[in-house]
Amino acid sequence: MNSLVAIPGETGCLALLRKHRTPDHIIRHCQMVWEVGRFLGESLVRENLHVDMLLLRASCLLHDIGKYPCILSGAKNHDVLGEQILEQEGLLNVGRIVSQHVILRSQKNRPIGEEHIVFYADKRVIHDEIVSLENRFTYLTNTYGKTAQARDRLLIMKQETIDVETAIFENLTFGPEEISKLSTTI
Ligand SMILES: [Fe+2]
Repeated sequence: MNSLVAIPGETGCLALLRKHRTPDHIIRHCQMVWEVGRFLGESLVRENLHVDMLLLRASCLLHDIGKYPCILSGAKNHDVLGEQILEQEGLLNVGRIVSQHVILRSQKNRPIGEEHIVFYADKRVIHDEIVSLENRFTYLTNTYGKTAQARDRLLIMKQETIDVETAIFENLTFGPEEISKLSTTI
C-alpha cells in the first residue's frame, strides 16, 4: 500500500509532531529513537538487507505522535491513535509501522522490516537516553506494572523484544551493546 503523500523528511516530521502538539520531551525521545534506528538501518543495509531509510526515519520520528492526543482525550492506545493521525495525514505506510511499535504484528523473525527496527529502537531509549533492554523493562515494570496482569504482559513483551533483538543482530557483525556507545547528544 502506498502513501497518498510523499514521506516527510526530518523537518516535515517535526512540523507534524508540532501540529499535533507533541511536547518537546517527547520530540527528543523520538529523535533519539531515530538515532538508534538509523544506526541499525544503515548497518543492515551494509549487510545487503533491504531497509527503506526514508520510511524508517519518518516512522521513528513519528512513532509517538499519538501520545499527547491520548493524554488529552484519555484514550489508552497511543499506537492506534498514532496510526489514525498518520492515516489522516495520508501517511499510510508510516501509520502501518507506527501501529506496531507497542505490539508487533509482523513475524518476530525474518525478514527484518522497518517495523522491527522501530519496535526495537523504542525499547532501547528511555526519554532521550539510550539504555539496555534490561533497564528499559525495569523502567516499564516500575512505571506500568501495577497489577500482576500488567507485569505478565510486560514479561511477554520483553521476550518478544529479545526475539526481535536476536533476529536483527543475527544479520550484523556486532552485538546489541554497540547501541549503548552511540552519541547521546541530539
Ligand atoms: Fe517511544
